[in-house]
Amino acid sequence: MIPSDDRVDFALRPRMLSEITGQDQVRENLAILLSAARHRKEALDHVLFYGPPGLGKTTLAHVMANEMGVNIKITAGPAVERAGDLAAILSNLQEGDILFIDEIHRLGRAVEEILYPAMEDAVLDIMIGKGPSARSIRLKLPRFTVIGATTRLSLVSAPLRARFGAVYRLNYYELPAMEKIIQVAAGKLNISADEAGIHEIALRSRGTPRIGLRLLRRVRDYAQVRADGIIDKPVSESALELLNIDRAGLDDVDRRVLLTIIEKYRGGPVGLSTIAASISEESDTIMEVVEPYLLQLGFIDRTPQGRCVTVKGYTHLGIQHPETAENETQPKQANLF
Ligand SMILES: Nc1ncnc2c1ncn2[C@@H]1O[C@H](COP(=O)(O)OP(=O)(O)O)[C@@H](O)[C@H]1O
Ligand SMILES: [Mg+2]
Repeated sequence: MIPSDDRVDFALRPRMLSEITGQDQVRENLAILLSAARHRKEALDHVLFYGPPGLGKTTLAHVMANEMGVNIKITAGPAVERAGDLAAILSNLQEGDILFIDEIHRLGRAVEEILYPAMEDAVLDIMIGKGPSARSIRLKLPRFTVIGATTRLSLVSAPLRARFGAVYRLNYYELPAMEKIIQVAAGKLNISADEAGIHEIALRSRGTPRIGLRLLRRVRDYAQVRADGIIDKPVSESALELLNIDRAGLDDVDRRVLLTIIEKYRGGPVGLSTIAASISEESDTIMEVVEPYLLQLGFIDRTPQGRCVTVKGYTHLGIQHPETAENETQPKQANLF
């Protein structure tokens, strides 16, 4: 059975561009791209979305297919193991189709090489036979569009990146956009929540719709079991406190990263992989989820020698920064929740 949270996610996914909240610049660019392609009756140019998980890359790929009224085929970098797998996918595409490749930075080299001529000239080069009698034949493909998504732009090879006509970065959502997304979802799910209750959830969603929607469901559970089912400020606060999510949206892992840098490495600089090893977390999680958000909050700095916790980061945890210690007499009390 599909886990109920996933089914809910599917139901909540915006279908058209007009239903997308936030990401104003990307939305405007996409509107132009879509409208121009529709006018010329051409396939869309290839598009690459990058940014932290949960910001809407997959959603936007589906939205673009809906807006263009075309089919979308979905695959992911790790799923396409051999060049032949990709050749099979490509040779089944129809005119105008969208091929969505998630985690595109994880495509293998040999697979990528099939993709280059397909994206550039809509042709598929396949090798027939082996050894001296081997020859390559070239098949014509219909015009199609690749939409790629990645959390790690730096791992997308330069030749692959160059094949995309448009590359868009998704940013963390501003608070008002997060509030609106959570409010709309609450409406669709028939959850009663007041403005202040939604505000508390949005505040701790680290600018990420997927997290906001997940917290909304957890707060709803809490409201049902421990309160009268209505999400207001006190209910939101108590539920989120119980989940160990503080007012900046930091969870245990984020706080452990900061504390480790402070306590074991005197505030840094220290490399991310070292931090990941010392708290036994996947370094991918640290690179893709934890670091970008801590940087965004200004709690850490990126230096060539590694990451350092900033004064703001120390203050958030209620720990005095070594350099400001001598100027202050009263230690600050942390109030994370
Ligand atoms: N702009 C948005 N407005 C409303 N919901 C959104 C928006 N962006 C993402 N979501 C929701 O957030 C969840 C995660 O989005 P998704 O597209 O899967 O992110 P990504 O592919 O970047 O990891 C989905 O359930 C989606 O419905
Ligand atoms: Mg996705």
